[in-house]
Amino acid sequence: MKHLNRIVCFLLIAAIMLCSCGSEAKRTTQPYGEGAPSLYKAFEGKFRVGAAINSWDLDDPTSWNYQTIVQQYNTLVLENESKPDAIHPSEDQYYFDKFDKFVDFCEEHNITPRGHTLIWHSQVPGWFFKDGNQDASAELVLERIKEHVTTIVSRYKGRVKSWDVVNEVIGDGEQLRFSDWSRLVGDADGDGDKYDFIEAAFIAAHEADPDARLMINDYSLESSTDKAIRMYNAVKKMLEDGVPIDGVGFQMHIGNGIDYDAMKENYEIIARLRDINPDLMIEVTELDVNCYGWGEEKKDVEVTKEFLEQFSKTYTDVFKLMLELSDEGILDSVVMWGYYDGASWLNDGHQNYPMLIDKDHNLKDAYWDVLELAD
Ligand code: G3I
Repeated sequence: MKHLNRIVCFLLIAAIMLCSCGSEAKRTTQPYGEGAPSLYKAFEGKFRVGAAINSWDLDDPTSWNYQTIVQQYNTLVLENESKPDAIHPSEDQYYFDKFDKFVDFCEEHNITPRGHTLIWHSQVPGWFFKDGNQDASAELVLERIKEHVTTIVSRYKGRVKSWDVVNEVIGDGEQLRFSDWSRLVGDADGDGDKYDFIEAAFIAAHEADPDARLMINDYSLESSTDKAIRMYNAVKKMLEDGVPIDGVGFQMHIGNGIDYDAMKENYEIIARLRDINPDLMIEVTELDVNCYGWGEEKKDVEVTKEFLEQFSKTYTDVFKLMLELSDEGILDSVVMWGYYDGASWLNDGHQNYPMLIDKDHNLKDAYWDVLELAD
């Protein structure tokens, strides 16, 4: 009897060890290759999962980067190469080669391409705002917006499904960000608001591709209720004026740790725009988790057990809410701003830890915790 007990005990321990080894092995799997998991496949039927990449990631089909991108994501966006300074550096010059290559790649792999971004105050060439040595008039800037947006959107008509038509136009303290766009165009139509440059961009984009989803994209909407309200008020006014806005992009550059209830409330503020446009959609457009607070002194991040738990919780909190919003039919795309730590814009001389895949190409525990939510 004593022996039997020992044997049963031994078998039990062996079975437990085998199981835990199995799940450990599963958790250390590389992002592509035989038996590799896939983020986008896990969330299929809920929302697309995507990443920002650069066109050079697509150069070598045998590379880790290329294979990982194809295995993990079914929507993609260019990190910099489809911005105004890259595509339209001077008035009579357009450079489409990188964007063309990107869109071709997406089509070849059944990936939904996003367009980022048509109008932004940053990475925009100065010629838009000049007429010789003088400031350009409102009419001239509006004419240039129309030409710029029409040329780009019509080139990719039916192919680029979702555009960040304008980026970061809402103010951090005031209703509208002060920029060369708002300064020069102002209230050109005299209706009492200064959304005119935004309206011109949306109208031109809609005329160029009526089926594309046209988004207004911004940061801090998940964390600042004031900013979410400013976004709500701007979009409400423009929708009521007949401006074809199809969606609001939440960039989601967040820190390690997020107030779930506040985030949910802020999404709900934007979701109320459906009272005006019942088809309005929300997308997450630039998700990443910064290990350093704004303005905080940076030392290379210490990846402690507590840090990792918090990191995992931050990502799972976000994906939990995205699943809820997808069930409500208001969200169908979650895009991360990068596809592994080694390629993130947040590595500004200090190692950061923002993505679900680490700098050495391994899937993090947070990756698996997010994946488990999809079950
Ligand atoms: O291409 C030049 C290169 O020729 C030059 O030698 C080098 C020297 O600094 O700079 C290179 O340009 C850099 C560019 O990225 C391309 O790598 C710029 O300095 C750098 O400022 C630029 O940063 C980009 C940033 O937007 C610009 O504001 C980041 O990569 C990009 O991730 C970031 O993306 C933005 C989104 O578009 C909007 N939301 C916020 C997000 C993060 O800031």
